[in-house]
Amino acid sequence: MSETVFTYAAPALKFGTGASGEIGHDLASYGARRILLVTDPGVAATGHPARIAEQVTARGLEVTTYDRVHVEPTDESMRDAVDFARDAGPFDAILAVGGGSSIDTAKAVNLLTTNPGDLMDYVNAPVGRAKPPTARLLPLVAVPTTTGTGAESTTICVLDVLSLHVKTGISHPALRPTLAVVDPALTVSQPTLVTAAGGMDILCHALESWTARWYADFDAKRPEQRVPYCGANPIADMWAEKAMTLLAGVFRDAVRDGGDVAAREQMAMAATFAGLGFGNAGVHIPHANAYPIAGRVRDFHPEGYPGVLVPHGMAVALTAPEAFRFTFEAAPERHVHAARLLDPSVEPGPDALPTALTGLMRDIGIPNGLAAVGYDAGDVDDLVAGAMQQQRLLATAPRSPTEEDLASVFVASMEHW
Ligand SMILES: NC(=O)c1ccc[n+]([C@@H]2O[C@H](COP(=O)([O-])OP(=O)(O)OC[C@H]3O[C@@H](n4cnc5c(N)ncnc54)[C@H](O)[C@@H]3O)[C@@H](O)[C@H]2O)c1
Repeated sequence: MSETVFTYAAPALKFGTGASGEIGHDLASYGARRILLVTDPGVAATGHPARIAEQVTARGLEVTTYDRVHVEPTDESMRDAVDFARDAGPFDAILAVGGGSSIDTAKAVNLLTTNPGDLMDYVNAPVGRAKPPTARLLPLVAVPTTTGTGAESTTICVLDVLSLHVKTGISHPALRPTLAVVDPALTVSQPTLVTAAGGMDILCHALESWTARWYADFDAKRPEQRVPYCGANPIADMWAEKAMTLLAGVFRDAVRDGGDVAAREQMAMAATFAGLGFGNAGVHIPHANAYPIAGRVRDFHPEGYPGVLVPHGMAVALTAPEAFRFTFEAAPERHVHAARLLDPSVEPGPDALPTALTGLMRDIGIPNGLAAVGYDAGDVDDLVAGAMQQQRLLATAPRSPTEEDLASVFVASMEHW
């Protein structure tokens, strides 16, 4: 029997310039006294976390700061944060200030300071044991400083399991933040490439949830089988479409001039909208491919990021044009509609979305394909194997890819223009 039900869930949201000035009030309203603030060194250097901590302590609350979040967190870096919090706690609430790396680390800390065991008990199967939490988590206030991941709205936390060279995650409704505080003023200091990569993450969230398998095309679930990602549906569609329209208007401007406050505000709104959409519909092939692209990096050091990594949004973007060429036949009109929102001049057809995407990627300084971040034809089998492990995501694709299909996508993504 086919599914007839779709679901929608979201955190409470405070959006707008100055919203981060009210966090002390918000935390106090939860009855919290002792707060753990989680951030990374780059965000700490902007002064935003210290200013927020000051404003929270002015309300009579106590703030302890953990500022060692690893950019693109690993199992080791998350354990470091959890150990810190278990030693320094107990806390009444958690406050994440930063990009997806800080927010995801805060989710893991929240899980493992309220529930027993180790990270791998909760990590998605087959990499981990996928246990659900048994005890209630603390209130988590998430304050994004990037315009990208939507992690402030979602139920997942992403991590790199170093010993297995695999990126995976923990996914459970209990991880969703209690309150998302999106203050565009905090995002103005993002480096150019962080803006470009994060923006591609937003765009792919919107495109993948917009083109995801329709919720009614899945088998019917029992109530206890329902998962946060239920496939494309009328509510997620609204968020995705609006996010694409916002991006079409301002993405290039935000990258060209990071001080363009109006563009920053629209980017923050696009990130929020896309997060609310994909956080319920799900994402598919570009995100599945991004996990091995990021997880198997050898020596790519992007400007504006600390160390060797392929930033998440860049990893997602690198195979997106070819992934959408592959999915085109499952829903041609959706692909063309999205392409024309981004670039009204593209001709309808399988090339429409790849053309709109590569034109944008070129303009905003995303590398020209997998070869530019250090991969070659000899890596394709490994990349396919890594992507095939992401069955949770591939199940949301409107057209199920075989290993050969994914190999074709990776090969064609070595160079885009
Ligand atoms: N949980 C989810 O739903 C979800 C969704 C997508 C991605 N992710 C994960 O999120 C992570 C990526 O997060 P991200 O793209 O937001 O970036 P990030 O948190 O990794 O930060 C990227 C860099 O930008 C810096 N930075 C962040 N904000 C800044 C600011 N305002 N000013 C100056 N520098 C700033 C950071 O210090 C860091 O060096 C990845 O690990 C990815 O897998 C999670």
